[in-house]
Formats: sequence, structure tokens, C-alpha cells
Amino acid sequence: MAAREHRTVLREEAAALLAPAPGRRVLDGTVGGGGHAETLLERGAEVIGLDRDEAALAAARARLSRFGEKFTAVHANFRDARRTLDALGEGAMDGALVDLGVSSFQLDDEARGFSFSRPGPLDMRMDRSAGEPLSAWLDRVEETELERVLRVFGEERFARPIARAIVRARQAGALPDTAALAKVVTEAIPAAHRGGPIHPATRTFQALRIAVNDELGALEGWLADLPDLVRPGGRAAAIAFHSLEDRPVKRRFAELTKGCICPRALPVCGCGKTAGWRLLTRKAWVPSVAEVARNPRARSARLRCIERL
Ligand SMILES: C[S@@+](CC[C@H](N)C(=O)[O-])C[C@H]1O[C@@H](n2cnc3c(N)ncnc32)[C@H](O)[C@@H]1O
Repeated sequence: MAAREHRTVLREEAAALLAPAPGRRVLDGTVGGGGHAETLLERGAEVIGLDRDEAALAAARARLSRFGEKFTAVHANFRDARRTLDALGEGAMDGALVDLGVSSFQLDDEARGFSFSRPGPLDMRMDRSAGEPLSAWLDRVEETELERVLRVFGEERFARPIARAIVRARQAGALPDTAALAKVVTEAIPAAHRGGPIHPATRTFQALRIAVNDELGALEGWLADLPDLVRPGGRAAAIAFHSLEDRPVKRRFAELTKGCICPRALPVCGCGKTAGWRLLTRKAWVPSVAEVARNPRARSARLRCIERL
């Protein structure tokens, strides 16, 4: 069953930081259902919305059609944002936003293969027109690489037994769908560790999704390109949902906002480096208690923002 709605996370907060206004142009790299874009458009900004998922783009187009030419939807990966802007004849923007990960539309639609509670195909691609589905990836991945992916991208402490169980099940032809995968994962985890508030397969599914979509590679590409995406006076904001996403955002924002890097003992600066950006969120902004009560999926969100000087 596809979700009827995706609840936009940190909607007001992201809009406050991006300062939308008539004449300002924002690149929403993860337009999804269009929630953030809608708020930015309502406040007068023009928005170019990218998504690598055609179905998400169709939903955004429908929701935002009332804004006419103020909203442009493009099927693209935000790692290629600079190339996409070039193709549109656009220079640097006044704002750039990414709201990372998958949407409820994707998670709750078992046909997309993200769900561990209902059987679906082993796919997990956000962009079904590119790359390989999870089934193909699982067919060729070595057990040691699978274990590494589960440990690093899932922070899964039982990565080794889970990887072994998945490879065995795959060899036996016993992985027809996501429900079978979730069962294999659950049974590979010692019984004493299967309880708790989250499903035992959650970390494995997160890790596989990150690998299949090269999510961290895309984020690194966007972060590297920020100086070409945002003009002086413009702002860049990222909403991360776990530390693997938040850490690179924090590191890159710190790098861009850091001035002189000379040792303190030097009486005068010799490096000549000046900060090209300033941090607008000294600590990451997090959702209010009320937002988490309304939308438990928001609980791990972290919003950071910088402004180009
Ligand atoms: C959390 S949802 C965004 C929700 C949106 N901000 C809203 O308020 O409705 C993330 C969206 O980003 C898309 N996405 C994830 N990684 C992407 C990437 N590298 N390039 C483009 N879109 C991406 C997903 O397909 C999904 O639709």
C-alpha cells in the first residue's frame, strides 16, 4: 500500500533558514512530495526541484502546479546538480536544500522493495530507470563486502552472521522478496537481541538501501559542489537522518566556514585563508517535541545551514 502522505520534516525551520522571498531562487535537491518546496513557493521564492524518483516528481508536479513557472521539476540526482543547472541555463542559486533519505511514499509502497513488513521485490532503487536493483547487487556482492556494508552503513553489530545468512539464503534461492530477506536477517540475530522498539531488520535494510543508491556518494558530490551551486549571500541547508549523513555535512560545513588555519603560535597569518561562508546553525536544529509526537519518523532529523559571504 502506498502512503497517502509524506510529512515534511522541519518544514518551518528549513524555510526560516533559507529565507525565501520574491526574487530568491532555491534549488530543492530532494523535492519528494513537494512539502518544503511548497513552503518556499508560498513565501515568494522560485524553486527548481530535483528528484531521482520519477514517481516523487510526478507527485510534486501535481501538488505544485498552482505555482506555474515559479516551480520547475527535473528528474536528476542532486550529485549532478551543477550539470543540471547548466543544462537549464542557470547560474548559482540563492538557496540549496537537501532533505536526505527516502520519503514515506517510497518506504510504505511495498512495490518499491523498501519494506520489511510486507513482501515486495528486492529492488530499493529510488531511481528505477538507473542502476541495479538489490537482487542484482546481492547476486554479485562478496560476503566480506556485504558484511562491511552492514557494519558501516547499518552500524549493525551482527553484520557477520547476517551477511553469512543472506549469502547462504541467496545461494539456496530462498530470497524471493523483502519479507523473506527480513526473516533471514531476524533469524541471524541472537534471540536475546531481537526485541526492542525497532524491527531487527531495520539496520540491514538501511545499509542495503544506502549501498544500492550510493546515497553517501551523492551527498559528498553535493557538498563538494556547494561553492558552484550557491552565490554570495545565498544559503545551503541539509536535513540528515543518521550520523552517516550528518557527519559529512558537519565536516564540510566546518571546512567552508573556517578561516585562517595557521598554528596559534604564529604571530601573523601565513595561510591567507579566509572563511567564505558563515555557520547559521552552531548546533544542528532538531524537531520539536510536538513534531516528533505528530511524526515519529522526524525524531532523528538534524538540520544544518551555512550562508555564503
Ligand atoms: C525525505 S524525501 C524529501 C521530502 C520533501 N522534502 C518533502 O517535503 O516532501 C527525500 C526525497 O529525495 C529523493 N532523493 C534521495 N536522494 C536523492 C538524490 N541523490 N538525488 C535526487 N533525489 C534524491 C528521494 O527520491 C525522495 O523523494
